[in-house]
Amino acid sequence: MSKILEISDLKAIAKRRVPKMFFDYADSGAWTEGTYRANEEDFRKVKLRQRVLVDMTNRSLESTMIGQKVSMPVALSPTGLTGMQHADGEMLAAKAAEEFGVPFTLSTMSICSIEDVASVTTKPFWFQLYVMRDREFVKNLIDRAKAAKCSALVLTLDLQILGQRHKDLRNGLSAPPKFTPKHIWQMATRPLWCMQMLGTKRRSFGNIVGHAKNVSDLSSLSSWTAEQFDPQLSWENVEEIKKMWGGPLILKGILDVEDAKMAARTGADAIIVSNHGGRQLDGAPSSISVLPKIVDAVGHQIEVHVDGGIRSGQDVLKAVALGAQGTYIGRPFLYGLGAAGKAGVTTTLDIIRKELDITMALCGKRDIRDINRDVIAE
Ligand code: GLV
Repeated sequence: MSKILEISDLKAIAKRRVPKMFFDYADSGAWTEGTYRANEEDFRKVKLRQRVLVDMTNRSLESTMIGQKVSMPVALSPTGLTGMQHADGEMLAAKAAEEFGVPFTLSTMSICSIEDVASVTTKPFWFQLYVMRDREFVKNLIDRAKAAKCSALVLTLDLQILGQRHKDLRNGLSAPPKFTPKHIWQMATRPLWCMQMLGTKRRSFGNIVGHAKNVSDLSSLSSWTAEQFDPQLSWENVEEIKKMWGGPLILKGILDVEDAKMAARTGADAIIVSNHGGRQLDGAPSSISVLPKIVDAVGHQIEVHVDGGIRSGQDVLKAVALGAQGTYIGRPFLYGLGAAGKAGVTTTLDIIRKELDITMALCGKRDIRDINRDVIAE
Protein backbone atom coordinates (compact mmCIF):
# COMPACT_ATOMS: atom_id res chain seq x y z
CA MET A 1 0.00 0.00 0.00
CA SER A 2 2.95 2.30 -0.69
CA LYS A 3 1.05 4.86 -2.78
CA ILE A 4 -1.52 5.41 -0.08
CA LEU A 5 -0.68 8.79 1.34
CA GLU A 6 -3.92 10.24 2.61
CA ILE A 7 -7.33 9.15 3.83
CA SER A 8 -8.98 9.94 0.49
CA ASP A 9 -6.76 7.25 -1.13
CA LEU A 10 -8.27 4.66 1.22
CA LYS A 11 -11.74 6.02 0.51
CA ALA A 12 -11.26 5.46 -3.22
CA ILE A 13 -10.13 1.86 -2.68
CA ALA A 14 -12.97 1.15 -0.25
CA LYS A 15 -15.45 2.39 -2.81
CA ARG A 16 -14.18 -0.23 -5.26
CA ARG A 17 -14.20 -3.06 -2.72
CA VAL A 18 -17.32 -2.56 -0.61
CA PRO A 19 -20.86 -3.07 -1.98
CA LYS A 20 -22.49 0.27 -2.73
CA MET A 21 -25.15 0.11 -0.02
CA PHE A 22 -22.53 -0.29 2.73
CA PHE A 23 -20.03 2.17 1.32
CA ASP A 24 -22.87 4.69 1.01
CA TYR A 25 -24.02 3.98 4.58
CA ALA A 26 -20.64 5.22 5.82
CA ASP A 27 -20.37 8.04 3.31
CA SER A 28 -23.70 9.70 3.99
CA GLY A 29 -25.22 12.50 5.98
CA ALA A 30 -28.83 13.40 6.68
CA TRP A 31 -30.98 15.16 4.04
CA THR A 32 -28.86 17.62 2.02
CA GLU A 33 -25.64 16.44 3.72
CA GLY A 34 -24.83 20.11 4.38
CA THR A 35 -23.65 19.49 7.94
CA TYR A 36 -21.67 16.44 6.84
CA ARG A 37 -19.80 18.64 4.35
CA ALA A 38 -19.45 21.55 6.80
CA ASN A 39 -17.69 19.26 9.30
CA GLU A 40 -14.84 18.82 6.82
CA GLU A 41 -14.96 22.30 5.24
CA ASP A 42 -14.74 24.14 8.56
CA PHE A 43 -11.54 22.32 9.48
CA ARG A 44 -9.99 23.77 6.32
CA LYS A 45 -10.88 27.29 7.49
CA VAL A 46 -8.78 26.94 10.64
CA LYS A 47 -5.25 28.13 9.87
CA LEU A 48 -2.05 27.19 11.68
CA ARG A 49 0.85 29.37 12.80
CA GLN A 50 4.13 28.44 11.17
CA ARG A 51 7.11 28.79 13.54
CA VAL A 52 10.78 28.37 12.66
CA LEU A 53 14.15 27.66 14.24
CA VAL A 54 12.87 25.79 17.24
CA ASP A 55 14.25 22.45 18.36
CA MET A 56 12.15 19.74 16.74
CA THR A 57 13.79 16.67 18.24
CA ASN A 58 12.15 14.16 20.59
CA ARG A 59 8.54 14.78 19.72
CA SER A 60 5.71 13.06 21.58
CA LEU A 61 2.10 12.49 20.62
CA GLU A 62 1.29 10.56 23.77
CA SER A 63 -1.58 11.87 25.80
CA THR A 64 -4.58 10.73 27.82
CA MET A 65 -8.31 10.49 27.20
CA ILE A 66 -10.42 10.22 30.39
CA GLY A 67 -7.18 9.53 32.19
CA GLN A 68 -6.35 6.52 30.00
CA LYS A 69 -3.04 6.57 28.16
CA VAL A 70 -3.27 6.92 24.36
CA SER A 71 -0.40 6.86 21.84
CA MET A 72 -2.10 9.84 20.18
CA PRO A 73 -5.37 11.56 21.12
CA VAL A 74 -7.44 9.78 18.47
CA ALA A 75 -10.04 7.12 19.26
CA LEU A 76 -12.03 5.01 16.82
CA SER A 77 -15.65 6.17 16.83
CA PRO A 78 -18.53 3.84 17.38
CA THR A 79 -19.88 3.19 13.89
CA GLY A 80 -22.86 1.04 12.99
CA LEU A 81 -22.58 -2.00 10.68
CA THR A 82 -18.79 -1.92 10.72
CA GLY A 83 -18.71 -5.65 10.03
CA MET A 84 -20.37 -4.93 6.69
CA GLN A 85 -17.44 -2.83 5.45
CA HIS A 86 -15.32 -5.97 5.81
CA ALA A 87 -16.06 -9.41 7.26
CA ASP A 88 -15.52 -9.37 11.05
CA GLY A 89 -14.78 -5.64 10.75
CA GLU A 90 -15.19 -4.71 14.40
CA MET A 91 -12.82 -7.46 15.54
CA LEU A 92 -10.20 -6.39 12.99
CA ALA A 93 -10.49 -2.68 13.80
CA ALA A 94 -10.33 -3.35 17.54
CA LYS A 95 -7.13 -5.35 17.09
CA ALA A 96 -5.56 -2.64 14.94
CA ALA A 97 -6.48 0.02 17.52
CA GLU A 98 -5.14 -2.05 20.38
CA GLU A 99 -1.81 -2.57 18.64
CA PHE A 100 -1.62 1.14 17.89
CA GLY A 101 -2.43 2.14 21.44
CA VAL A 102 -5.65 4.06 20.80
CA PRO A 103 -9.19 3.32 22.06
CA PHE A 104 -11.64 1.35 19.96
CA THR A 105 -15.32 2.04 20.62
CA LEU A 106 -17.78 -0.72 19.77
CA SER A 107 -21.21 0.44 18.64
CA THR A 108 -24.43 -1.09 19.98
CA MET A 109 -25.36 -1.45 16.30
CA SER A 110 -22.28 -3.48 15.44
CA ILE A 111 -22.15 -6.73 13.53
CA CYS A 112 -19.59 -8.43 15.79
CA SER A 113 -20.79 -8.66 19.37
CA ILE A 114 -19.19 -7.37 22.57
CA GLU A 115 -18.07 -10.93 23.28
CA ASP A 116 -16.61 -11.34 19.77
CA VAL A 117 -14.46 -8.24 20.20
CA ALA A 118 -13.45 -9.24 23.73
CA SER A 119 -12.36 -12.64 22.42
CA VAL A 120 -9.72 -11.15 20.09
CA THR A 121 -8.42 -8.27 22.21
CA THR A 122 -6.24 -8.22 25.30
CA LYS A 123 -6.77 -4.64 26.43
CA PRO A 124 -10.09 -3.02 27.35
CA PHE A 125 -12.11 -1.37 24.61
CA TRP A 126 -14.97 1.13 24.97
CA PHE A 127 -18.64 0.37 24.43
CA GLN A 128 -21.21 2.78 22.96
CA LEU A 129 -24.75 2.51 24.21
CA TYR A 130 -28.07 3.40 22.63
CA VAL A 131 -30.92 3.49 25.12
CA MET A 132 -33.85 1.30 24.09
CA ARG A 133 -37.36 1.33 25.52
CA ASP A 134 -36.65 -2.19 26.83
CA ARG A 135 -34.61 -1.27 29.91
CA GLU A 136 -33.97 -4.90 30.74
CA PHE A 137 -32.15 -5.19 27.43
CA VAL A 138 -30.19 -2.00 28.19
CA LYS A 139 -29.20 -3.44 31.58
CA ASN A 140 -28.20 -6.64 29.85
CA LEU A 141 -25.99 -4.72 27.39
CA ILE A 142 -24.34 -2.82 30.25
CA ASP A 143 -23.73 -6.07 32.14
CA ARG A 144 -22.19 -7.62 29.02
CA ALA A 145 -19.92 -4.58 28.58
CA LYS A 146 -18.86 -4.91 32.23
CA ALA A 147 -18.23 -8.64 31.82
CA ALA A 148 -16.07 -7.84 28.77
CA LYS A 149 -14.12 -5.37 30.97
CA CYS A 150 -14.90 -2.37 28.77
CA SER A 151 -13.11 0.63 30.26
CA ALA A 152 -15.60 3.33 29.25
CA LEU A 153 -19.24 3.61 28.29
CA VAL A 154 -20.00 6.10 25.53
CA LEU A 155 -23.64 7.10 25.81
CA THR A 156 -25.07 8.57 22.61
CA LEU A 157 -27.52 11.39 23.24
CA ASP A 158 -28.38 12.55 19.73
CA LEU A 159 -30.07 9.59 18.10
CA GLN A 160 -33.39 8.83 19.72
CA ILE A 161 -34.93 9.11 16.30
CA LEU A 162 -32.99 8.63 13.10
CA GLY A 163 -32.18 11.52 10.75
CA GLN A 164 -33.26 10.69 7.21
CA ARG A 165 -30.39 9.56 5.04
CA HIS A 166 -31.51 9.48 1.46
CA LYS A 167 -28.82 7.12 0.24
CA ASP A 168 -29.79 4.39 2.72
CA LEU A 169 -33.45 4.62 1.77
CA ARG A 170 -32.69 4.56 -1.93
CA ASN A 171 -30.28 1.66 -1.52
CA GLY A 172 -32.68 -0.36 0.65
CA LEU A 173 -29.91 -0.80 3.22
CA SER A 174 -30.20 -3.79 5.54
CA ALA A 175 -27.99 -6.23 7.43
CA PRO A 176 -27.83 -8.94 6.35
CA PRO A 177 -28.40 -7.61 2.82
CA LYS A 178 -31.54 -8.55 0.95
CA PHE A 179 -31.39 -10.77 -2.10
CA THR A 180 -33.12 -8.61 -4.67
CA PRO A 181 -31.56 -8.31 -8.16
CA LYS A 182 -30.17 -4.86 -7.24
CA HIS A 183 -28.53 -6.07 -4.04
CA ILE A 184 -27.23 -9.25 -5.64
CA TRP A 185 -25.66 -7.11 -8.36
CA GLN A 186 -24.03 -4.79 -5.82
CA MET A 187 -22.46 -7.77 -4.09
CA ALA A 188 -21.60 -9.77 -7.20
CA THR A 189 -19.46 -6.88 -8.41
CA ARG A 190 -17.45 -7.10 -5.15
CA PRO A 191 -16.28 -10.75 -5.22
CA LEU A 192 -13.52 -10.46 -2.62
CA TRP A 193 -15.93 -8.88 -0.14
CA CYS A 194 -18.41 -11.71 -0.81
CA MET A 195 -15.81 -14.42 -0.33
CA GLN A 196 -14.68 -12.92 2.97
CA MET A 197 -18.31 -12.53 4.08
CA LEU A 198 -19.02 -16.17 3.29
CA GLY A 199 -16.12 -17.07 5.55
CA THR A 200 -17.76 -15.54 8.65
CA LYS A 201 -21.01 -16.23 10.44
CA ARG A 202 -21.26 -12.62 11.62
CA ARG A 203 -23.67 -10.93 9.23
CA SER A 204 -26.37 -9.35 11.38
CA PHE A 205 -26.49 -7.20 14.52
CA GLY A 206 -24.43 -9.29 16.94
CA ASN A 207 -25.28 -7.38 20.11
CA ILE A 208 -28.98 -7.72 19.52
CA VAL A 209 -29.83 -10.95 17.75
CA GLY A 210 -30.50 -13.60 20.35
CA HIS A 211 -30.43 -11.03 23.17
CA ALA A 212 -33.36 -8.64 22.65
CA LYS A 213 -36.97 -9.75 22.92
CA ASN A 214 -39.84 -8.81 20.61
CA VAL A 215 -37.69 -7.63 17.76
CA SER A 216 -39.84 -7.78 14.67
CA ASP A 217 -37.58 -6.24 12.06
CA LEU A 218 -33.95 -5.93 12.85
CA SER A 219 -32.56 -5.87 9.35
CA SER A 220 -33.40 -2.23 8.75
CA LEU A 221 -31.73 0.28 10.99
CA SER A 222 -34.53 2.77 10.51
CA SER A 223 -37.32 0.42 11.56
CA TRP A 224 -35.27 -0.89 14.48
CA THR A 225 -34.59 2.61 15.83
CA ALA A 226 -38.20 3.68 15.32
CA GLU A 227 -39.48 0.62 17.18
CA GLN A 228 -36.88 0.22 19.89
CA PHE A 229 -35.06 3.45 20.76
CA ASP A 230 -36.49 5.46 23.63
CA PRO A 231 -37.62 8.86 22.30
CA GLN A 232 -38.18 10.06 25.89
CA LEU A 233 -34.55 9.73 26.98
CA SER A 234 -33.85 12.46 29.55
CA TRP A 235 -31.10 13.84 31.78
CA GLU A 236 -32.58 11.77 34.65
CA ASN A 237 -32.07 8.66 32.53
CA VAL A 238 -28.44 9.67 32.05
CA GLU A 239 -28.06 9.59 35.84
CA GLU A 240 -29.66 6.12 35.93
CA ILE A 241 -27.35 4.80 33.24
CA LYS A 242 -24.36 6.33 35.02
CA LYS A 243 -25.30 4.46 38.21
CA MET A 244 -26.05 1.23 36.38
CA TRP A 245 -22.66 1.35 34.66
CA GLY A 246 -20.60 2.64 37.58
CA GLY A 247 -17.46 3.28 35.49
CA PRO A 248 -16.04 6.00 33.23
CA LEU A 249 -18.82 7.62 31.22
CA ILE A 250 -18.58 9.70 28.05
CA LEU A 251 -21.60 11.62 26.74
CA LYS A 252 -21.67 11.80 22.95
CA GLY A 253 -23.62 14.23 20.82
CA ILE A 254 -23.33 17.63 22.50
CA LEU A 255 -23.43 20.60 20.13
CA ASP A 256 -24.93 23.35 22.25
CA VAL A 257 -23.46 25.29 25.17
CA GLU A 258 -26.60 24.85 27.29
CA ASP A 259 -26.53 21.08 26.76
CA ALA A 260 -22.80 21.04 27.53
CA LYS A 261 -23.53 22.71 30.89
CA MET A 262 -26.22 20.11 31.66
CA ALA A 263 -23.82 17.33 30.68
CA ALA A 264 -21.08 18.74 32.92
CA ARG A 265 -23.49 18.63 35.87
CA THR A 266 -24.02 14.87 35.47
CA GLY A 267 -20.50 14.17 36.68
CA ALA A 268 -19.67 12.26 33.50
CA ASP A 269 -15.97 11.99 32.64
CA ALA A 270 -16.13 13.60 29.19
CA ILE A 271 -18.43 14.94 26.51
CA ILE A 272 -18.02 14.48 22.79
CA VAL A 273 -18.87 17.59 20.79
CA SER A 274 -20.61 15.92 17.86
CA ASN A 275 -23.38 16.19 15.31
CA HIS A 276 -23.14 12.45 14.62
CA GLY A 277 -21.02 13.02 11.53
CA GLY A 278 -23.76 15.16 9.99
CA ARG A 279 -26.07 12.13 10.04
CA GLN A 280 -28.74 13.53 12.35
CA LEU A 281 -29.73 17.23 12.30
CA ASP A 282 -28.76 18.50 8.88
CA GLY A 283 -28.37 22.28 9.15
CA ALA A 284 -26.64 22.07 12.52
CA PRO A 285 -23.22 23.75 12.77
CA SER A 286 -20.01 21.79 12.25
CA SER A 287 -18.42 20.27 15.33
CA ILE A 288 -15.16 22.21 15.04
CA SER A 289 -17.01 25.55 14.77
CA VAL A 290 -18.76 25.07 18.13
CA LEU A 291 -15.86 23.40 19.95
CA PRO A 292 -14.18 26.61 21.24
CA LYS A 293 -17.27 28.04 22.90
CA ILE A 294 -18.14 24.71 24.50
CA VAL A 295 -14.58 24.42 25.82
CA ASP A 296 -14.83 27.98 27.18
CA ALA A 297 -18.12 27.16 28.91
CA VAL A 298 -17.35 23.76 30.48
CA GLY A 299 -13.71 22.90 29.81
CA HIS A 300 -12.79 23.63 33.42
CA GLN A 301 -15.40 21.12 34.66
CA ILE A 302 -15.32 18.23 32.22
CA GLU A 303 -13.02 16.80 29.57
CA VAL A 304 -14.10 17.84 26.08
CA HIS A 305 -13.64 15.59 23.05
CA VAL A 306 -14.74 16.14 19.47
CA ASP A 307 -15.68 14.15 16.38
CA GLY A 308 -16.93 14.99 12.90
CA GLY A 309 -14.92 15.90 9.83
CA ILE A 310 -11.49 14.75 10.97
CA ARG A 311 -9.73 13.50 7.84
CA SER A 312 -6.09 14.12 8.71
CA GLY A 313 -3.60 14.54 11.49
CA GLN A 314 -3.73 18.27 10.77
CA ASP A 315 -7.42 18.20 11.74
CA VAL A 316 -6.52 16.39 14.96
CA LEU A 317 -3.97 19.09 15.79
CA LYS A 318 -6.51 21.85 15.12
CA ALA A 319 -9.08 20.16 17.36
CA VAL A 320 -6.55 19.72 20.16
CA ALA A 321 -5.44 23.35 19.74
CA LEU A 322 -9.05 24.48 20.09
CA GLY A 323 -9.36 22.62 23.38
CA ALA A 324 -10.21 18.98 22.65
CA GLN A 325 -8.44 16.54 24.95
CA GLY A 326 -9.39 13.77 22.53
CA THR A 327 -10.70 13.29 19.01
CA TYR A 328 -12.52 10.48 17.19
CA ILE A 329 -12.39 9.18 13.66
CA GLY A 330 -15.26 7.22 12.12
CA ARG A 331 -15.23 7.29 8.33
CA PRO A 332 -11.41 7.37 8.02
CA PHE A 333 -11.06 4.02 9.75
CA LEU A 334 -14.09 2.57 7.91
CA TYR A 335 -12.42 3.47 4.61
CA GLY A 336 -9.23 1.79 5.76
CA LEU A 337 -11.19 -1.28 6.85
CA GLY A 338 -13.13 -1.46 3.59
CA ALA A 339 -9.93 -1.03 1.60
CA ALA A 340 -7.76 -3.62 3.34
CA GLY A 341 -9.21 -5.01 6.58
CA LYS A 342 -7.03 -4.73 9.68
CA ALA A 343 -3.97 -3.53 7.72
CA GLY A 344 -6.12 -0.77 6.25
CA VAL A 345 -7.13 0.45 9.71
CA THR A 346 -3.47 0.46 10.72
CA THR A 347 -2.72 2.48 7.59
CA THR A 348 -5.42 5.00 8.55
CA LEU A 349 -3.86 5.42 11.97
CA ASP A 350 -0.34 5.63 10.51
CA ILE A 351 -1.37 8.35 8.06
CA ILE A 352 -2.97 10.38 10.83
CA ARG A 353 -0.03 9.92 13.18
CA LYS A 354 2.49 11.03 10.57
CA GLU A 355 0.47 14.10 9.56
CA LEU A 356 -0.09 15.04 13.19
CA ASP A 357 3.57 14.64 14.08
CA ILE A 358 4.96 16.68 11.17
CA THR A 359 2.32 19.37 11.52
CA MET A 360 3.10 19.73 15.20
CA ALA A 361 6.81 20.11 14.44
CA LEU A 362 6.19 22.75 11.77
CA CYS A 363 4.11 24.68 14.30
CA GLY A 364 7.19 24.70 16.49
CA LYS A 365 5.93 22.24 19.12
CA ARG A 366 7.30 18.95 20.36
CA ASP A 367 4.67 17.65 22.74
CA ILE A 368 1.00 17.26 21.94
CA ARG A 369 0.21 18.07 25.56
CA ASP A 370 1.62 21.57 25.03
CA ILE A 371 -0.67 22.33 22.11
CA ASN A 372 -3.15 25.13 22.73
CA ARG A 373 -4.77 28.03 20.85
CA ASP A 374 -1.33 29.52 20.47
CA VAL A 375 -0.77 27.42 17.33
CA ILE A 376 -3.87 28.81 15.60
CA ALA A 377 -3.26 31.73 13.21
CA GLU A 378 -5.84 34.44 13.89
C1 GLV B 1 -25.80 5.00 13.64
O1 GLV B 1 -25.24 5.32 14.65
C2 GLV B 1 -25.75 5.75 12.44
O2 GLV B 1 -25.40 6.93 12.48
O3 GLV B 1 -26.08 5.18 11.39
